[in-house]
Amino acid sequence: MCGIVGYLGEKDSKQILLDGLKELEYRGYDSAGITILQNGNFSIYKSVGKLHNLIEKSRDFKVDGFSVGIGHTRWATHGKPTETNAHPHTGEMVHVVHNGIIENYQELKKELLEKGYSFYSQTDTEVIVHLFEENSKYCKSYLESFQKTISQLHGAYALLLLNRDESNRIYFAKEGSPLIIGTDTETGEQFFASSDAPLIGYVDSVIYLQDGEWGYVEQGKIYLYDKDGKEVEPKFSPLSKDRASAQKDGYRYFMEKEIYEQSQVISDTLMGRVVDSGIEFDEIEPSLFDGIDEVKLCGCGTSYHTALASMYLFERIAKIRVSVEFGSEFRYREPLLTKNILFIPISQSGETADTLASLKMAKEAGLKTLAVCNVDNSSIVRLSDKAILTRAGIEKGVASTKAFATQMVVLYMLALYIAQIRNNISQEELDNHLHILREIPNATIVQPRLHEKIKRLSKRYLHGHGFFFIGRDIFYPLALEGALKLKEISYLHAEGYPAGEMKHGPIALADPELFTIALLPENVLYEKTKSNIEELGARDSTICVISPKPFELADDFIQTSHHKHYILEFFEMMVVVQLLSMEVAIRLGNDVDMPRNLAKSVTVE
Ligand code: F6R
Repeated sequence: MCGIVGYLGEKDSKQILLDGLKELEYRGYDSAGITILQNGNFSIYKSVGKLHNLIEKSRDFKVDGFSVGIGHTRWATHGKPTETNAHPHTGEMVHVVHNGIIENYQELKKELLEKGYSFYSQTDTEVIVHLFEENSKYCKSYLESFQKTISQLHGAYALLLLNRDESNRIYFAKEGSPLIIGTDTETGEQFFASSDAPLIGYVDSVIYLQDGEWGYVEQGKIYLYDKDGKEVEPKFSPLSKDRASAQKDGYRYFMEKEIYEQSQVISDTLMGRVVDSGIEFDEIEPSLFDGIDEVKLCGCGTSYHTALASMYLFERIAKIRVSVEFGSEFRYREPLLTKNILFIPISQSGETADTLASLKMAKEAGLKTLAVCNVDNSSIVRLSDKAILTRAGIEKGVASTKAFATQMVVLYMLALYIAQIRNNISQEELDNHLHILREIPNATIVQPRLHEKIKRLSKRYLHGHGFFFIGRDIFYPLALEGALKLKEISYLHAEGYPAGEMKHGPIALADPELFTIALLPENVLYEKTKSNIEELGARDSTICVISPKPFELADDFIQTSHHKHYILEFFEMMVVVQLLSMEVAIRLGNDVDMPRNLAKSVTVE
């Protein structure tokens, strides 16, 4: 999804902006651009495709001394990925970068066209440029025209604006899309970014802007205002300077590194929460669950799969009613919301537009809300009454892996927590689950033998007319997740299905070119799942079975370890389907970390 960076100071602003955009690359984009303003002169560079095109284009441009600059990576929403549509958008006197969507841009554009302004791009962003220029004709100061401009915008935005007549200043505004200001308190340099990553190593403190906040920065100074134009005191938070965790550490892809990291981040996620005889969360009190008899789990994509898998655990362990929602469906379907429901938005980024909008709806209906999220200070965390962080660390691969793993662990612990405070579980059962939880880091260590086997096997799965990932019980959402991983990065068609449902339609597709990836754990519904696989085998589907028990009818077999409990099998098989998708995609020559058409953080609906 789109990314924003900005810089004001004495250093090489071109390099700082390009480095910042590089840090945002993993979010997905199809064009990029930068503008630098010095002494009333703009220098602008834009290009389609990957950042190296922009680097190449701006190679001969050198910045000397103080400058202000803004940069952007664009993921097309309004208008094709072309150079004209790439940001910054420009007018006679201002250049603008913007994330989000201006919902009333058609009306604004019509008015501005009538006033004689010309539009070059198909984007919604360009209206901001001309609106500011128009307002500047009548307002007493540029500050006032900026304030007037943003008050005319409806929708979501994070934006930066440079004005030719003010070469020492960057204007900013935030509504519904994330924007952070970073400051180096020693030098007075100011930085902007739409997420933490470009700021790490450059600044020691940051301001996470709130919706409705706007203002401008100059050297060593930040002027911040609220919606009503009242000056507000900036709230600084410290930012760690450690960049190491953001690098690949010798792995071929961030996705691979993140799969290998799962064992460690799961341990981090358990730390201090799995205690001697139960589960503790510093973030919540048992009273959060007073009067609650249903939990509504809501997410998108992989986070939706976490929700679906957790449903099995919540009902089985916590004995509480569960409903599971896609953010994009829930927000438009007039759901019946009563105060006995606890609303749990699940999100890696904490910025997913549909999950965020669903959370807002739940809040408006007066529901208690508890976020499960990986990014502290993200919009979803800030808006929820309470939040439990997943501690996965920065996830850079677009295909989510360690975030899913840690979400699953948090929700498993939460199911136990509810069971524990409601006395729905015996101490013996609880102890058993605590033991399983402590075993999960082991179950998710990538075994070299297993990885090697998957790497070799992957060459047989590069064609065919489709994949079915099948499983039963909690292995059905895992099958959905396996299929999503494969299609995201290999671009092969894949579907997840409940194994028992195949005979109700999809089995008609079975033939040797249809690949079935069957999840066959030994501790839950083994015989039932086995029969379903045999049904497919009898129709000549090519079958790869993932199981601890050998399966003689399988064409391919990936042997997992024997575990005492199906939850441990779940986590090991999770690693297997992630590796399988990754190895297939690598063999197909795809960019595993930045698959086509996808964005890491989906901040538009
Ligand atoms: C898939 C993937 C996406 C995200 C989805 C929600 O690998 O990463 O499906 O899970 O866009 O994102 P978050 O969890 O950030 O709300």
